[in-house]
Amino acid sequence: MNYRHAFHAGNFADCVKHALLVWVLRAMQRKPTPLRVLDAHAGRGEYALDSDEARRGGEWWEGVGRLMAVEEGPLADYVGLLRQLGMPGTYPGSPRIIQALLRPSDALVLNELHPEDHAALRRALRGTPTHMRDAYEAARALTPFPEKRGLVLFDPPFEATDEFPRLATAMARVWARARGHVQVAWYPIKHRAPVLAFHAALRDAGLRDAVAAELWLREPLDATRLNGCGLLVVNPPYGFETAGAAILAALIERLSDEPGAGTRILRVVDE
Ligand SMILES: C[S@@+](CC[C@H](N)C(=O)[O-])C[C@H]1O[C@@H](n2cnc3c(N)ncnc32)[C@H](O)[C@@H]1O
Repeated sequence: MNYRHAFHAGNFADCVKHALLVWVLRAMQRKPTPLRVLDAHAGRGEYALDSDEARRGGEWWEGVGRLMAVEEGPLADYVGLLRQLGMPGTYPGSPRIIQALLRPSDALVLNELHPEDHAALRRALRGTPTHMRDAYEAARALTPFPEKRGLVLFDPPFEATDEFPRLATAMARVWARARGHVQVAWYPIKHRAPVLAFHAALRDAGLRDAVAAELWLREPLDATRLNGCGLLVVNPPYGFETAGAAILAALIERLSDEPGAGTRILRVVDE
């Protein structure tokens, strides 16, 4: 486990993931019934942007650094929340973003396997139940949720060469156990072939109702670079395709000046 999110916090990939996640959670809260969120790869919970890691990585400057002037439009909710949670000095990770959105009747469970990041997470989100186990094992053990409604967020570091097939298997397993739960999974787009294989694996696993939202900063031709990323959403709330397209369009306008940049919303598996 070499991956440390502190080098990458607030980069373009975090912006895509978190802007869409905010919309999904708000949409799920149209219903008053309580829900639970499992953040299965939670990271540290928050990131000081003047830390050595953030300075050395420098990625936030080309990510959230380009969004801080946003006051209105499809990104206003996300950027407003970031300001509330400490930007420009601190970038909130997914745990703090989710915690800020949940209602008193909702529940949050966090999981992070790296011991140092787990300790930091516990300090940052004191009082929130936190596990230190493998994310896919945690998702299997902790679903279905007692509330019957909820969201599982998978955000693996993709260090392992078999991360895509393992992620597809884990998502299919959650779907089989808890068909109504929303699942959100972040994935890298270096080049297209592994992404197409991931989508095919989800279809083959028998899972239904899955939509991908993708953004790429440049044509994904150089497989050594993180050219873009996607969010796979199982059981997306009503309106996700339209709202997600507007969020991605607003993001790409600010995040890339390169030729070949683009976005798409793709139905991966029918309802
Ligand atoms: C991309 S980061 C998470 C960022 C976080 N979700 C956010 O948006 O702020 C991935 C995290 O997963 C952790 N991780 C790596 N392998 C894991 C595993 N098998 N189970 C749980 N966590 C793992 C890493 O230590 C890292 O903190």
